[in-house]
Amino acid sequence: MLIIVLVALCLAGTTVALGELSHHLQTPKSKITDCQMFPSSQIYDGSEVYIPGPTADLQTIPANFNCVYKIQAPANATDGMYINLTLKNGMKGLNDYIQVINVDGYPTMYTNRSYQMDQYVIPPGSVISVKVVTKSVYMASQFSIILNYHANKIGPSIPMKPSTQFNFLDLNTLRDGKNFFTSVTFTNSESIYITFPESNAGRTFCWNCFVIDGTIDNQTAVYTLENIENGEITTQSNAVTVLTSVDGFMGTVLDTWGDAAQNNYISSLAVPNSLTFKTTHPMHTGAIEVVNFNGTGITMNQLSVQGTACKAYVLNGPPNNQSQVILDLSTAQIPHTFDLQALSVVSEECEISFSVVGS
Ligand SMILES: *[C@@H]1O[C@H](CO)[C@@H](O)[C@H](O)[C@H]1NC(C)=O
Ligand SMILES: *[C@@H]1O[C@H](CO)[C@@H](O)[C@H](O)[C@H]1NC(C)=O
Ligand SMILES: *[C@@H]1O[C@H](CO)[C@@H](O)[C@H](O)[C@H]1NC(C)=O
Ligand SMILES: *[C@@H]1O[C@H](CO)[C@@H](O)[C@H](O)[C@H]1NC(C)=O
Ligand SMILES: *[C@@H]1O[C@H](CO)[C@@H](O)[C@H](O)[C@H]1NC(C)=O
Ligand SMILES: *[C@@H]1O[C@H](CO)[C@@H](O)[C@H](O)[C@H]1NC(C)=O
Repeated sequence: MLIIVLVALCLAGTTVALGELSHHLQTPKSKITDCQMFPSSQIYDGSEVYIPGPTADLQTIPANFNCVYKIQAPANATDGMYINLTLKNGMKGLNDYIQVINVDGYPTMYTNRSYQMDQYVIPPGSVISVKVVTKSVYMASQFSIILNYHANKIGPSIPMKPSTQFNFLDLNTLRDGKNFFTSVTFTNSESIYITFPESNAGRTFCWNCFVIDGTIDNQTAVYTLENIENGEITTQSNAVTVLTSVDGFMGTVLDTWGDAAQNNYISSLAVPNSLTFKTTHPMHTGAIEVVNFNGTGITMNQLSVQGTACKAYVLNGPPNNQSQVILDLSTAQIPHTFDLQALSVVSEECEISFSVVGS
């Protein structure tokens, strides 16, 4: 018993102070001293693996432990797996800690005063890193990481239509009731500007929904949908991937970066729900793409346009100079019905508010 313990301590590079010796003499069976991970042969649909192992139970670690585990969910362009990660935190020393960097880069520290258990989902192709650190005083800190692998089909890759046409999709139409994640990738010849349209039914809340700048097998950045500020992202790469894990409306509207830049900003609305849009920046040019995800027909039934130098109009395509003005909103008779599935409302230096419903 004593011999095993001393070997473990040597491997861990621990300097044993006399005062701490009593601790060490009670040290367990564990020989966990390096940062080794399980072999890749243990990764398959339905498998459960442990770090540091060999079981799911909390494992006691030596002093001066310092490991970073990078855990990536396997994926290529057509097939992948997601990982359900369970973290058990048994830090005992005051300065011992676990730091998890989530797939979106967001860090969480676990110490003796934190949750003793937490859960993460790693979508196909994404990476979580878990750093486990103990200081020089042995405190019998413990941890365990349990990984559950599940096969998950990778969704279609769709080239964006040219700027003369709208690009939008409700991911709910791709849900198959079998895969936890439903994904879609849009590709383009330049950066993509993506918005998640407001709907008065509210977008479906989803903690395990992600937006990837890039493709499933080449991720430039990962965002948690609920954390996206202003509800829009401009990609660095020429692709964007959206993953949903809930049943319910999950609309996406895409534009080229060039169109978004010309308009200062683009936001989006989903009908048939009745919606009111009000500008908050009357001095700016802005565009709102209105989409009836359920079919053709949009009726504008309330309108107010104000501003001395104001220009407001409706376009039959995305907000760029290839689309045609189909209604001047300064002279429009309301209600007005458009025989379209999508349209753009452009406002230049206006304070504008309107309501739209599906028709
Ligand atoms: C993706 O991985 C699956 C399963 O590992 C394999 O069958 C398939 O051929 C791969 N596809 C590509 C495009 O590499
Ligand atoms: C992850 O595991 C926990 C605990 O077993 C379970 O409650 C949860 O539903 C799992 N989540 C997924 C996405 O598999
Ligand atoms: C914190 O550490 C003390 C001993 O150092 C231990 O008794 C207690 O259970 C620990 N708390 C948690 C939440 O692990
Ligand atoms: C991954 O994406 C980046 C950014 O778009 C690109 O520069 C790089 O060439 C891609 N790598 C591969 C292997 O496709
Ligand atoms: C489309 O219609 C379905 C069924 O009528 C409804 O549940 C859904 O909320 C509608 N979609 C939107 C974006 O309002
Ligand atoms: C349309 O906009 C593009 C991009 O800003 C510009 O390069 C092009 O000259 C414009 N065309 C016309 C006819 O105004």
